[in-house]
Amino acid sequence: MKQDNKTISGFSSMRKRDKIKWLVENFFKDPESVMHELKSYWHKNDEQQKILDGFSENTISNFPMPFGVAPNFVIDGKTYCVPMVIEESSVVAAASAAAKFWMKRGGFKTEIIGTEKLGQVHFLWHGDPSILFTHFDDAKKVMLADVEGIVANMRKRGGGIQKFELIDLTQKKENYYQLRVSFETCDSMGANFINSCLEQFSHSLKSFYFNHSQEKQGLEIIMSILSNYNPNCLVRAKVSCKIEELGDFPNGMGAELFAKEFKDAVEIAEIDPYRATTHNKGIFNGIDAVVIATGNDFRAIEACGHTFANKSGSYSSLSHCRIEGGNFEFWLDIPLAVGTVGGLTNLHPIAKRSLEMLENPSAKELMSIIAATGLAQNFAALRSLITTGIQKGHMKMHLLNILNHLKATESQIKSATDHFQDKVISFNSVRDFLKTTTLN
Ligand code: MEV
Repeated sequence: MKQDNKTISGFSSMRKRDKIKWLVENFFKDPESVMHELKSYWHKNDEQQKILDGFSENTISNFPMPFGVAPNFVIDGKTYCVPMVIEESSVVAAASAAAKFWMKRGGFKTEIIGTEKLGQVHFLWHGDPSILFTHFDDAKKVMLADVEGIVANMRKRGGGIQKFELIDLTQKKENYYQLRVSFETCDSMGANFINSCLEQFSHSLKSFYFNHSQEKQGLEIIMSILSNYNPNCLVRAKVSCKIEELGDFPNGMGAELFAKEFKDAVEIAEIDPYRATTHNKGIFNGIDAVVIATGNDFRAIEACGHTFANKSGSYSSLSHCRIEGGNFEFWLDIPLAVGTVGGLTNLHPIAKRSLEMLENPSAKELMSIIAATGLAQNFAALRSLITTGIQKGHMKMHLLNILNHLKATESQIKSATDHFQDKVISFNSVRDFLKTTTLN
C-alpha cells in the first residue's frame, strides 16, 4: 500500500523550498507546475520577501489581492484618494461613485466620539469577597506601579491607563471577577501595549493578595487579554443635503421618492436582523478594504462592529437616516480601533504607501477616513438597491472577468460590453458570443 505522506513533523523548521516540495508532491496532481506557479508569486526582491515571510508561519508564497484606489473623497474639508484592498468586483467603483456624488454636496463630515480601548483580567476569587474589595485600592496602587516601565513611554505620547475597575460577575459565574481597564493608545492600535500591561497586572494582582491577605490561595487568574469590543473607540461619519439637491436617479426616480425609499431601506435594516446583516456587510465592504490596505486588523474591526450592531440586544443597522425640515441626513456610528504606527502599518511595504497616500494620518484621522468609506459604500449599495438593483453593476464587472478569463481582445471587450447591455450574462453566453464575433 502506498504510504500516506500527508502528515509531517518538523515542518516549521524546514527550508521554504523543502516545504513547497513536500506540499506539491503530496497534495497536487501536477507538482512541477504548481511549484513554478507558487514561486512566480515570490517577491523579486529577496529582502522584501523576507519581510513578508516574517509576518506569518510556514509561508510558501504570497497571495495577491487587488490594490485599488477610490479618489474624490472629501472628508472634513480635505480631499483623499482612499486605498482599498478587496477582491469583490464593483466595491471600489461604488465607493468612488458615492465619493464623487457627495463631493458635490459638501463631502463627508466626521466626529471622533471617543478613543478608549479596553482590556480585561479574568479571575476567580475563592475567598471572602469583602477581603478582595477591602484590599483592592492598595492592590491597584501596586499594579499601577508595577506597569510604570511599560506605561512611561505611552504617557509621553499622551496616552496611558485611564479607568481601572473591579467588577463582580459572580451572579453570572461562581467566584468570577474581572479587572476591566481602559487605555488610551494614541496613534497605535495598542494590542501589544495593552496585553503587556494586563499580563503584568495579573502577576501583580496574584502576588499582592498572596502577600497581603490571609486568603493566600484565594485568587486564581484565568486569563488576561484586551477586549476587541471597544464601543467607546467610536467615530461618526455623516452626509447631508437638501432633498432637492439629491438630484434625479436612474429609472427616473425623483429626489423626494429616493429620499423616502432610502430611509425606508435603512429602517428595514434597523428592525430586521436578516437585512441588517447584509446591510452591514456592505458597510464592511468599504471598511475592511481600507483597514487591510493600511495594515490594520480587519478581524478585530469586524468582531467589534458586529457586537456594536447588537448593542440593543437585537442585531441592527450600523447606519441611520433622517429626513427633517427638507433635509436628508445619513450617518454611520462605528467603533474603529485602528493604528497608524506600529504593527504591520510600518512593516508592510504597501500598507506604508497607503498611509503615505493618505498623507500619514493620525489614528483619529484614519478612523474618519475608514468610517466615511463605509458610509459611502452603504450609500452606493442602497442607491443601487432601491433604483436599478445591484446586478446591473455587478454583471458589468462579472462580464469583464469572464472576458479576461477567455483572453478577449480590446475590440472584443468593447463589442461584448455593447452586446450584453440588455442581455443575460453567463460564462457560456459570453463564450458563444466571442466565438461568433471571431468567426465574423
Ligand atoms: C454586496 O457585497 C453588498 C450588498 O449586498 C450590501 C447591501 O445589500 O446593502 C449590496
